[in-house]
Amino acid sequence: MIKLQEQAIEVLNNNWTGSFSIPCANLYPFQWKWDSGFIAIGFAHFDMPKAEKEISTLLDAQWENGFIPHIVFHTENDSYFPGASFHRSDLHPLASKKYKSTGMVQPPVTGFVLEEMYKVSNNKEASLKYIASVIDKVYFNHEYFYKNRDPQNEGLVYIYHNWESGTDNSPIWDDIFETMDSPDYTFERRDTTHVDAAQRPSKREYDHYLHIIEIAKEHNYSDEKIAELSPFLVQDPLFNTMLIKSNESLIALYKLIGGNNDKIEQLEKWQEKSKKSFNNKLYDEELGAYIHYDLRNEKPLRHVSSSSFSPLFAGIPSNERAQKMVTVMMDKFGNENQYLCASFDPTSNRFNPKKYWRGPVWINLNWILYNGLKAYGFKDIAARVKQDTIDMIEKNGFYEYFDSRKEMHTDGKAGYGGNHFSWSAALLIDMLKN
Ligand code: DGY
Repeated sequence: MIKLQEQAIEVLNNNWTGSFSIPCANLYPFQWKWDSGFIAIGFAHFDMPKAEKEISTLLDAQWENGFIPHIVFHTENDSYFPGASFHRSDLHPLASKKYKSTGMVQPPVTGFVLEEMYKVSNNKEASLKYIASVIDKVYFNHEYFYKNRDPQNEGLVYIYHNWESGTDNSPIWDDIFETMDSPDYTFERRDTTHVDAAQRPSKREYDHYLHIIEIAKEHNYSDEKIAELSPFLVQDPLFNTMLIKSNESLIALYKLIGGNNDKIEQLEKWQEKSKKSFNNKLYDEELGAYIHYDLRNEKPLRHVSSSSFSPLFAGIPSNERAQKMVTVMMDKFGNENQYLCASFDPTSNRFNPKKYWRGPVWINLNWILYNGLKAYGFKDIAARVKQDTIDMIEKNGFYEYFDSRKEMHTDGKAGYGGNHFSWSAALLIDMLKN
């Protein structure tokens, strides 16, 4: 274990640029929002100044309306497509003037990341001082979501692009892409020069990805116009779980800091409304799991994925509902031939255990589930998620994602996507210490 931990530290230090971390070389050469958060949790265990700098750099790219982008393009680098010149964040009047970025977001993890950093810190006073210096930016980001991403005032925010979900090419989006008539674009992919195409999204999927962005760009990334016109408009249980968990952390941290009663009150209001709507709207009794909702076409997307169980992490389900969900999780995802937890329902015909988010196991979702299961008292299953995570990394290395089928893990070749992947290292460090 000590050796594995040292290797993880080495991965993180190698991906550190001096002011932020890349997720991994070549495939992802910039700063990604939710990656940065998970990476900071890893650094917090052995190098708090780097953890703090990671977050400060991300927050420095915040827009004047509170928006924090999904990718910050700190450097010119043509090993990635689509880059800054495609995304054109400068079209939005309130975009950062200092950094180029995308015009979309990623799951709002920063709030709970700050609390994790505080928990790990052995100098609580200094950590709280740091947190006090940045927390308002995170609050402002939550305000952006509730003001601009909740057109029906439900307490549930939408995402307008699959890349905002973080679960980029989940089979869930197939249902939406079927409703779209995207052009057949001509472009040069870069991801498939770094990684086997069998592990990455298809050309047709990229057509849809670009098409949604083109529509947003035509309207200078106006939130109002996006809400009105984007063919992709989804209430995602994972994304909303991240927001709710981060709300909770902001409340706890503001209380530690003292004062800020107006912000605490506002956060508590959001929290109550969000949790209620989440339970009413996103839970599917028949499936025994939380699902996505297609807000554009006003219909539930009835698929079970690892995101379906993520609400355990934010204390959203009742104990009874949690029990039901865990039973479903173990029935579908947890038989002895599978590592926990595949990213998509292994019993579905859309399941593909090799392809990006269409089936493989991801370490960040395992970390979320591990902590959620533990909080609800499912100790044995939490322990299995942890052990499965360690096994997969030990056998294959610090890959981006892993084949969920145990039979594939015999020759060290069941890790896919990028290698020396930052959050796989960061969250392993946290799980080993936890
Ligand atoms: C990619 O390029 O696949 C990224 O994950 C987008 O965020």
